[in-house]
Amino acid sequence: MREQDISLVANIDREAFAGERVLPSYSFYRRDLDSPLARYMVASIQNGFEQGENSQPIAKSPWIKKLFNYHNHTSLETNTSGEEYVIGFISVWLMMRELHLTAIAVKCNYRRQGVGERLLISAIELAKKLNVTMLTLEVRASNKIAQSLYAKYGFQIVGMRHKYYSDNREDAIIMTVYNFNLAPYQTRFQQLKLAYNKKWGQNLILI
Ligand SMILES: CC(C)(COP(=O)(O)OP(=O)(O)OC[C@H]1O[C@@H](n2cnc3c(N)ncnc32)[C@H](O)[C@@H]1OP(=O)(O)O)[C@@H](O)C(=O)NCCC(=O)NCCS
Repeated sequence: MREQDISLVANIDREAFAGERVLPSYSFYRRDLDSPLARYMVASIQNGFEQGENSQPIAKSPWIKKLFNYHNHTSLETNTSGEEYVIGFISVWLMMRELHLTAIAVKCNYRRQGVGERLLISAIELAKKLNVTMLTLEVRASNKIAQSLYAKYGFQIVGMRHKYYSDNREDAIIMTVYNFNLAPYQTRFQQLKLAYNKKWGQNLILI
């Protein structure tokens, strides 16, 4: 994620979590981009402006050009012409040797096409690079879609925070991958990645 992606990420955030949480301000994202503990990754497409809000979902994934993290500014400098268009993001915080997934969202009309899964794969790959031992997150009890994505990648329900969300006092479910860096999980992760590539193609590039 680059500074110039902030407004698009904020739009996706607003669309996905409208009314659900205090939405981050520009300076919040700006501060996170400067923090050594936070990482944001975005999924982007080229020529994405062709996709209107109400258009039909498009076919499988060759249109997704890049997933990248904000540290890689140089390779993206050339892409400031407006051709890159952010359609999803994932954010994480590194706390000691734990990686906290703080948010993931895909623009509504690009959902169900493997983007969210690819973002999660990228975060898990980042966790591996950072040598963390545990992945963890909170998710609304009612958010079965996100829970299904996390469960697919080995997150298990380990607890609950009662009335955690201030808007409707909904409970948060805590989902965690323990022993993240041990062989059984890593083997399973590689299998999931292979299955993903088979289903969606390998045109998604993590830079
Ligand atoms: C959760 C979210 C990021 C998933 O993104 P996506 O790009 O639509 O998901 P994908 O197409 O990559 O699907 C990956 C997995 O997610 C789950 N999933 C996605 N959409 C689903 C749906 N409509 N019903 C059930 N499961 C679903 C499935 O496990 C799916 O794996 P499968 O294809 O093997 O069934 C997206 O729905 C979103 O932005 N939701 C709003 C924001 C949000 O709730 N974030 C989570 C906060 S904790």
